[in-house]
Amino acid sequence: MPRYLRLTKSELTQMRASCRLAARTLEMVAEHIRPGITTDEIDRLIDAFIRDHGAYPSPLNYRGFPRSSCTSINEVVCHGIPESRALKDGDIVNVDVTCTLPAEKGFFGDNSVTFYVGEPSPSAIHVTEVARQALEIGIAAVRPGARIGDVGHAIQTFVESKGCSVVREFTGHGIGRQFHTEPAVPHYGKQGTGPLIKRGMTFTIEPMVNLGSWETVVLDDDWTAVTKDGSLSAQFEHTVLATRSGVEVLTRRDQILKSCEDVPHAQLGPLSTPAAFPRHR
Ligand code: MF3
Ligand code: CO
Ligand code: CO
Repeated sequence: MPRYLRLTKSELTQMRASCRLAARTLEMVAEHIRPGITTDEIDRLIDAFIRDHGAYPSPLNYRGFPRSSCTSINEVVCHGIPESRALKDGDIVNVDVTCTLPAEKGFFGDNSVTFYVGEPSPSAIHVTEVARQALEIGIAAVRPGARIGDVGHAIQTFVESKGCSVVREFTGHGIGRQFHTEPAVPHYGKQGTGPLIKRGMTFTIEPMVNLGSWETVVLDDDWTAVTKDGSLSAQFEHTVLATRSGVEVLTRRDQILKSCEDVPHAQLGPLSTPAAFPRHR
């Protein structure tokens, strides 16, 4: 039976700080999302903010990745590389922020959201809100004694009931002193299968939801993953901790995110929504 990383109390204090910075970075990004801004400009803001707080933007040079964050527009599923292209009205863009705090040999905090740029189409709203709720439902399945397959099963059942599909080629992952470690956290699966969740385990849940089929293709840049059928894709990610009583969302935010959670169609749940605000709807 494999054993997975479980953080001690002092390690957890550091992990909380890193995850909090990753969450605050997304709050900063939210202030800047508008038609006309380029993904490179977003990436520069992220790089500066993270370094200003004594941390390192983990994607930079990770397995050769050339930027400090991932920006995935419309049919891009994940790992989009920030570039000179400007966001345009109606786009959806996932911004994925990971930081290492302290910069040397620190702990990793990893989170992402999909933002609406200007006025979204009904199909963009659908895939984004299904992805948002899918993460919430996945988080709700975490408790000591549950299995990783329970998380994927809950997500897959929900997403498919909404006429969307769940990406298979990319998964959530264990995280802590390493960016990506065991266990893999698939967003599909069967109840009662996979690794047992134990108190102290930290991992990400990051469902990628497609409007069409679940298949993806990686472009010639060796990073950008797109939907095979060109359909829209959305993603939300949190880093979570399994606790005695259930789950703690380490990358939970303090604010309602602009261009993301402040829109009338946003269907926010209680687990990853800012504690200081009442539940929407
Ligand atoms: N942040 C991504 C994740 O959720 C990983 C990005 S790896 C990179 O796991 F190299 F593309 F940055
Ligand atoms: Co991740
Ligand atoms: Co991420």
